[in-house]
Amino acid sequence: MQHSKTDTGRLILPDQLFLSAVLEGLRSSPQKTLPSRYFYDAKGSILFQQIMALPEYYLTRAEMDIFRNKTTALIDALNMKQQLHYELVELGPGDGTKTIHLLKGLLGNGFHLDYLPVDISQSALNGLTAMLQKELPGLSVIPQQGDYFVKLKALKTNHRPKIILILGSNIGNLLDAEVSEFIAQLGDSLSPGDKILLGVDLVKAKEIVLPAYSDAQGITAEFNLNLLDRINRELGADFDRRQFEHRASYEASEGIAKSYLISLVRQSVSIGSQVFHFAAGESIHTEISRKYNDEIISGILQPTNISVAAKITDSQNLFADYVLVKSGAD
Ligand code: AVI
Repeated sequence: MQHSKTDTGRLILPDQLFLSAVLEGLRSSPQKTLPSRYFYDAKGSILFQQIMALPEYYLTRAEMDIFRNKTTALIDALNMKQQLHYELVELGPGDGTKTIHLLKGLLGNGFHLDYLPVDISQSALNGLTAMLQKELPGLSVIPQQGDYFVKLKALKTNHRPKIILILGSNIGNLLDAEVSEFIAQLGDSLSPGDKILLGVDLVKAKEIVLPAYSDAQGITAEFNLNLLDRINRELGADFDRRQFEHRASYEASEGIAKSYLISLVRQSVSIGSQVFHFAAGESIHTEISRKYNDEIISGILQPTNISVAAKITDSQNLFADYVLVKSGAD
């Protein structure tokens, strides 16, 4: 294992959570895995921005269609009251280009609200706040830097009605059981009648989904392979990325796009003192991208006290934003 030293001589240890997740995944048999949550280092975040602009990656454009062209339907579905003051809390807001349409619509229709984007990255929040102050100077923006649940728990004490935004099919990279757990936990930080606006990609034909995860320019391949570079750099591994290639699969009957890295040759890779052997053609499963329908959503919500109040889809029925409500009030 390589450790580096700071200029004061202090030893920097590799991120232990990252290391144990990687070791556990590569030890798992018969299918080796790597955790997709580690895709997003500085380079991975830039690659994901590029993915969202790809002709094959319809998800971002489809949800933008809802926010831009179905703003009134979205506002009606949220069933807000003009005499109340709301908190719109967005988990992982990105650049805000979708949300701004909803915010404009709400302010233009006389609703009272604060917008609270929650992100781990202070610089992402700074960029978003500056953009919103320029484009919507009348909007109250209260950025929240830190962990989602810590922030939501702290916000519960102010008793303002809340709408939580989770867009971009971000939940799709989790297993259904993990999403149930996440939403149940979210519910604990909400009051009866509070809402969640949940953006999800819908189950559809392979001809549409598969190219979104195996684009012609190879940006998704680069995004996947970048995880090996990150493991090399941060955990002192010696993956040779030229000996792996990206592959995606999807069957509409299952509704889950899966990404893999395939070992092109028989090879061994070291991470510190640990050695992992790969057969030629062996795969590492790196990501799931779940697609949804009403049945899957209600199965996920079943163990929670959250239910579906409304659903808005884009003009081509590719993507949906579900309005969910915490039970106990209208
Ligand atoms: C962030 N997430 C919703 C993306 C998705 O579609 O699963 C990540 C991604 N992976 C490959 N392309 C995009």
